[in-house]
Amino acid sequence: MKTHKRNPNWLSLLLVAVITAFIDPTFAQNSTATTAYVPAEMIFLDCGASKGNQTSQDGLSWEGDVGSGYALGIQKTVSATPSDQASGVPMVPYMTARIFQTPYTYSFPVTPGRKFVRLHFYPSDYTNPDFRASNSYFSASVGSYTLLNNFSALLTAQALNYDYISKEFSVNISSSVLNLTFTPSPSNKNAFAFVNGIEIVSIPQIFGDVNNFIKTPLIGPMNDMTDTQFRASGTTDKTAFETVARLNVGGASVSANGDSGLYRKWDDDSIYIYGAAVGVTYPKDPNVTIKYSDIVPEYIAPPMVYGTARSMGPQALVNLNYILTWIVPVDTGFYYLVRLHFCEIISTITKSNMRVFDIFINNMTALEGFDVIAFTNQVGPGVPIYLDFIMFFPNTSGLSQQDLWVSLHPDISSKPVFYDAELNGLEIFKLNDSNGNLAGPNPPMKVKQKHIQHFLAIEIGVPAAVLFILLLLFMALRRWRQEEKTIVASLPSSSNQGRLFSISEIKTATRDFSESLVIGVGGFGKVYRGGIDGGSTYVAVKRGNRLSGQGVHEFRTEIDMLSKLRHRHLVSLVGYCNENYEMILVYDYMANGTFRDHLYKTQNPPLTWKQRLEICIGSARGFHYLHTGAKPGIIHRDVKTTNILLDDKWVAKVSDFGLSKAAPELDCTHVSTAVKGSFGYLDPEYYRKQRLTEKSDVYSFGVVLFEVLCGRPALDRSLPEEQVILADWALHCKRNGTIDQIVDPNLKDDISPDSLEKFVEIAEKCLAGLGIERPSMGDVLWNLELALHLHDPVEKGEPISIPSYDGMMSSIVTTEGSVFSELRSPKGR
Ligand SMILES: *[C@@H]1O[C@H](CO)[C@@H](O)[C@H](O)[C@H]1NC(C)=O
Ligand SMILES: *[C@@H]1O[C@H](CO)[C@@H](O)[C@H](O)[C@H]1NC(C)=O
Ligand SMILES: *[C@@H]1O[C@H](CO)[C@@H](O)[C@H](O)[C@H]1NC(C)=O
Ligand SMILES: *[C@@H]1O[C@H](CO)[C@@H](O)[C@H](O)[C@H]1NC(C)=O
Ligand SMILES: *[C@@H]1O[C@H](CO)[C@@H](O)[C@H](O)[C@H]1NC(C)=O
Ligand SMILES: *[C@@H]1O[C@H](CO)[C@@H](O)[C@H](O)[C@H]1NC(C)=O
Ligand SMILES: *[C@@H]1O[C@H](CO)[C@@H](O)[C@H](O)[C@H]1NC(C)=O
Ligand SMILES: *[C@@H]1O[C@H](CO)[C@@H](O)[C@H](O)[C@H]1NC(C)=O
Ligand SMILES: *[C@@H]1O[C@H](CO)[C@@H](O)[C@H](O)[C@H]1NC(C)=O
Repeated sequence: MKTHKRNPNWLSLLLVAVITAFIDPTFAQNSTATTAYVPAEMIFLDCGASKGNQTSQDGLSWEGDVGSGYALGIQKTVSATPSDQASGVPMVPYMTARIFQTPYTYSFPVTPGRKFVRLHFYPSDYTNPDFRASNSYFSASVGSYTLLNNFSALLTAQALNYDYISKEFSVNISSSVLNLTFTPSPSNKNAFAFVNGIEIVSIPQIFGDVNNFIKTPLIGPMNDMTDTQFRASGTTDKTAFETVARLNVGGASVSANGDSGLYRKWDDDSIYIYGAAVGVTYPKDPNVTIKYSDIVPEYIAPPMVYGTARSMGPQALVNLNYILTWIVPVDTGFYYLVRLHFCEIISTITKSNMRVFDIFINNMTALEGFDVIAFTNQVGPGVPIYLDFIMFFPNTSGLSQQDLWVSLHPDISSKPVFYDAELNGLEIFKLNDSNGNLAGPNPPMKVKQKHIQHFLAIEIGVPAAVLFILLLLFMALRRWRQEEKTIVASLPSSSNQGRLFSISEIKTATRDFSESLVIGVGGFGKVYRGGIDGGSTYVAVKRGNRLSGQGVHEFRTEIDMLSKLRHRHLVSLVGYCNENYEMILVYDYMANGTFRDHLYKTQNPPLTWKQRLEICIGSARGFHYLHTGAKPGIIHRDVKTTNILLDDKWVAKVSDFGLSKAAPELDCTHVSTAVKGSFGYLDPEYYRKQRLTEKSDVYSFGVVLFEVLCGRPALDRSLPEEQVILADWALHCKRNGTIDQIVDPNLKDDISPDSLEKFVEIAEKCLAGLGIERPSMGDVLWNLELALHLHDPVEKGEPISIPSYDGMMSSIVTTEGSVFSELRSPKGR
């Protein structure tokens, strides 16, 4: 983790205007704006569907485009259905498509004004007669605005690892008709355009008035030319936007019908956060109400967005040494409007100068000393506010994409009560270029997958008797494996599952499963080191034991899980092979093996305390992501040191999702299931009650922490009886104050007492008998960060160099850390 440099060059930024609009007495007064917006137009068109209305999963009514009145001559185009339905893809509007082989225009009669135009795509192959997703390249435009150009929905979805995608644009329409035209790319004679659904929803002035661009602070390395041009062109009226990201920070995703009238989707922000430092999330205190106003009416963002937040965390010392950052990739060559939504939702933060922070965009200061309460006219908590910034991303390095960074850090110079920062929502919009274009290039192509066929070759001329016997055998075999086959065969064949390997590729990679390449053996089968792509890339090849009955289910679970989850601290799936009833998974190769290989019974040199802490932090980050990054969260169920792998840079990666289960939904508190997992790590509560929660993983992780500290297995039958089970023995020693006697001798002189104390404290909490008494993975993560910091204060990048600041730090932690923790609602802790 690195700290921001405030490069003096950036101080000449164009902070064009102070955000005067927000210091306004009309805040939080009664207004008509406090109810959700009702759009004049709300059109949900189910393209390719027959006449009539269909209700989608989220309760919206979609009208078939045939006979809708918006689609003149549509009968001359093709309506088609996808050749497969990947799991989780909604029926409406994705299970029908409209296909265009020549340009086609939908005409929507509308009132003049700004509209959201949302396009939905499910890039499957379409039958009737035969349209392959990989041949589909097209453009889409509204009037003179190009929304998409040479667009491949397939490449876009693959790059995001999604089955289906939607694109949202907004265009200000000056006439009374909105023409939306699809044109197949002319450069390819097989190219076709397709669309599954179209939404047209009118919107109020959410992008500000005509002068908005003049008022909006412009940040960044732009030359005078582009700035002048931009200012000259600068009215929102004539500019179209594309939504690049819309995040409900610190809360769950919000679906179209949870929005305040504009049918926007707000995504969970957790996968956009940079590094291990994710802060804490929390909902609003019950006695805080969101007070909308004329300045921030409810349609700006719904209460579900302003009512949840992510802050840096309760430890001032930790907060001062990191920067909470969200990263969103964007196309170069465009301006972006970055909108940050804030609302103070902790009831006791009532006055200005309690929580003051700086906002950075791409490491440049966007706003210093921002104070939500002060900027909302000191009305108190619950008043929403948003800030807009505009930034240009030049195409200087020839890169077509770059990352946009939004970062927050406490503002020390204003000496606030809490050294903390928070955010409730984040939106990023791309602005059309001077030619009215919004389209960027396609993401790079992923390795194309091969389609394989199963067949049984029976040679002609085999005597009838032999043939008969063969047939009998074949039928018996088929029956015996019926279940396996149907399950494996029902894996969606779309390519978001990663690369599909043939068995011959796998055999080449592993020298026909050579024993000399075995790097591990587990319940599922053997793991081999292999070389693919001519041996240039190492992979780990996990071959399922074909006779293992439970294997099939776990094979499928793992593919499903891994293809949905991508994270720096999770092992990533390269692809799989299911040919010949094989169950083979191919992963990134982890050069440094398992964590356990570096702890005990090993030829490897002992790891330092710092290395161990970093690996614990990385893996905690992985488990935290599993628990909170997906909806519903995922319980790993087999947390142990052999499932924490280390890559060539010693980055910890969680592996083995074979046993994973989706975590409970909100309304039930546990998943009841047969007990699985590894001895020595099993949560006793889970074992007794067969109740599975995330806290079972926390328990096992507590065992891992003691394993790391003591350098011994979770279960060691060669030891005296009271020491066999590490969890029991460690707790016993902790209670008797003899924990330092069981610390790995290799660490004795390495650990600082404070760090040891913190570490043991959190490990002990993880092992609490009742799940509800255990901390969340997020809390474990934070405490481990602190243990690392206590061990090595300079570790988390350079501390911000404030003269005479060091002397203050300890008092901040001891006094304020505890005050602050009382402020937090339980979820955030
Ligand atoms: C707001 O409305 C409530 C009742 O609807 C009223 O009691 C209150 O005085 C109003 N406040 C202002 C500032 O107009
Ligand atoms: C279908 O839905 C549209 C609005 O989306 C509505 O105007 C129309 O009346 C509905 N038609 C039927 C047959 O329900
Ligand atoms: C929309 O398309 C129709 C038919 O193609 C055309 O007559 C009309 O002029 C277009 N309107 C606009 C505003 O582009
Ligand atoms: C759309 O543009 C017109 C002028 O062409 C302007 O008056 C209106 O405010 C704009 N609407 C929005 C929502 O930006
Ligand atoms: C909310 O309740 C807390 C005590 O639970 C109190 O300290 C705080 O002042 C209240 N805040 C508001 C805005 O009423
Ligand atoms: C911001 O600073 C960090 C640390 O110096 C650097 O790694 C990162 O690339 C920078 N981000 C941008 C967008 O310049
Ligand atoms: C960016 O610049 C490179 C050459 O410098 C060019 O090939 C590429 O087309 C440009 N991309 C965009 C999006 O303008
Ligand atoms: C967007 O395109 C329109 C029409 O081409 C143009 O008038 C406007 O200046 C463009 N906006 C920006 C920010 O370049
Ligand atoms: C269209 O996109 C594909 C895939 O990114 C690219 O290979 C091709 O060159 C593009 N065609 C044009 C005409 O830009």
